[in-house]
Amino acid sequence: MSLFITFEGIDGAGKSTQFRLVAERLQQLGYSVCCAREPGGTAIGDQIRQLLHDVKNKEMTAEAEILLYSASRAQLVREFILPHLANGEIVLCDRYADSTYAYQGYGRKLDFAMLRWLTNFATQGLRADLIVYLDLDVTEGLRRKATSPEALNRMDQLGRAFYEQVQQGYLEMAKTEPERWLIVDAAAPIAEMNQLICQRIEKMLRFVA
Ligand code: TMP
Repeated sequence: MSLFITFEGIDGAGKSTQFRLVAERLQQLGYSVCCAREPGGTAIGDQIRQLLHDVKNKEMTAEAEILLYSASRAQLVREFILPHLANGEIVLCDRYADSTYAYQGYGRKLDFAMLRWLTNFATQGLRADLIVYLDLDVTEGLRRKATSPEALNRMDQLGRAFYEQVQQGYLEMAKTEPERWLIVDAAAPIAEMNQLICQRIEKMLRFVA
């Protein structure tokens, strides 16, 4: 029994905390859990992540950016995600294809047909079984980010309008496939969010067991 779960949200939504708590909970329940993040998650992907995140790379075009995110994903899917799924494990990924649709599609306005083709090529058509989306007000997301300026990356330099489009994009995608998406209010207490996420995952695990 394998399961592929991804975590999405605008920057500052608290995704990484929930990611860690869910991994711990599933491990406590005795499941074999593997964790990855995008961009990165492999030796090659981590080098690509540095390029993508480096605030000095101001001249990076949207086209170069999407190819780099896709290259990192292609490596991660083949080197890490598919082998672990084939082994019957649960794979959790901090960001995946829907970040591309939200940031490069709704945010950067790149062509969706092209993004779908490229994403399909990079992932061998692998889609998440569940997407946990942490929905946070953009103002609050920007405020949280501003409190840790040392952690800012190249994408954090985009303005409010960009993030509002990204957030709208996530919500639109979630609405079109409610059976695959779990929308979580990221303003809620951490323990409450975690309970909601774990309940949904444990329900899925009972179903696939
Ligand atoms: P994070 O590792 O802190 O979540 O930062 C990743 C950044 O990269 C975040 O701003 C979202 C962005 N991103 C994209 O724009 N497209 C993508 O396909 C992925 C995976 C991330």
